[in-house]
Amino acid sequence: MTNQFLEQLETPALLLDEARMDRNIERMRRQARRLGVSFRPHVKTNKSIEVTRRIMESPQGPITVSTLREADYFAAHGVTDILYAVCIAPNKLDHVMRLQDQGVRLTLILDSIEAARMLAGRAKAAQRHFDVLIEIDSDGHRSGVNPDSGDLLQIAQFLEGAGIPVQGILTHAGSSYDCTSTDAICAMAEQERAAAVHAAQRLRAAGIACPVVSVGSTPTALFAEQLEGVTEVRAGVFVFFDLVMAGLNVCRVDDIALSVLATVIGHQREKGWTILDAGWMALSRDRGTARQPVDQGYGLVCDLDGRPLDDLILVGANQEHGIMAHRSGKIEGALHLPVGAQVRIVPNHACPTAAQYEHYKVLGAGHEITATWQRFSGW
Ligand SMILES: Cc1ncc(COP(=O)(O)O)c(C=O)c1O
Repeated sequence: MTNQFLEQLETPALLLDEARMDRNIERMRRQARRLGVSFRPHVKTNKSIEVTRRIMESPQGPITVSTLREADYFAAHGVTDILYAVCIAPNKLDHVMRLQDQGVRLTLILDSIEAARMLAGRAKAAQRHFDVLIEIDSDGHRSGVNPDSGDLLQIAQFLEGAGIPVQGILTHAGSSYDCTSTDAICAMAEQERAAAVHAAQRLRAAGIACPVVSVGSTPTALFAEQLEGVTEVRAGVFVFFDLVMAGLNVCRVDDIALSVLATVIGHQREKGWTILDAGWMALSRDRGTARQPVDQGYGLVCDLDGRPLDDLILVGANQEHGIMAHRSGKIEGALHLPVGAQVRIVPNHACPTAAQYEHYKVLGAGHEITATWQRFSGW
């Protein structure tokens, strides 16, 4: 087979810079080792066995998923230790039991007494064992019970009484994405740790063993100074990084492993615009950098070597059209690449951008495409 190069790809295409990805993985691995915790990667970002094999501690896991479809896919590839880190709903329990029947140890999470009652009812009716973590809210970001609340003890005691041992506590400090300094991320990591450990201690004081204390987001995992009392850390975006992470100074732009290859299809020179064949279908509508000090529009434009190009960004996006222009809005002297020229656009948020594609084009040295890796989406 003849080698394929970047310049030969039909666009838009999702590029994965393998060397950058491997560097990012090594950085997280070093950090988990330093902190003395096990690492349970979140695979919702990559949804690919080739990527996940590089970040798992063993071929059987552990991993974290955000959908049961992810659990199905990774189970089919031999992963057996899976944490489904979205609160469980009753209509998913048949699916959970099918996964258990395939030999998967699928840990569930919940944060309400209603869900605990529902689970206990199904466990009894189906004569099943379920592994459960209680989600706590460490930062007001989204879901979870207050670690100081009576609800925490009530849920745990109810589960234990119903014969469902509580495996532990889980929290995700998603507010780390809103931090405005590295110090604030470090403080958020400590807040996440302290809340989870405190919740676990309350359960232990009530006689519940609570062996698992699971925390993590990419910023807090990478900036935690210590994780005493924590047993495992989770992160997903770190494998690729993105502009939101660069805007938080969690990584540099040249650490970002994911980009969208696009082609120039026209110009509106009087407006300083160059039109590309990559719009929001190719990049997603995520505007995560809009609330950061540097707004990157729908993505930062780079040359084929992945270096930022003349301070160009995508200032607008229609379904299949991207509008590339200078960040400053300058029209005089704007760079107008010719029709047919290619650029790489670095995305705001890796998860929704990658979700638009069925495969990664893996990029090696010298613009060579060394592999095509499948990925999937949906539920
Ligand atoms: C429960 C949970 N854990 C871990 C993560 C991973 O965090 P990140 O996407 O910052 O890597 C997420 C991401 O949304 C999550 O929802």
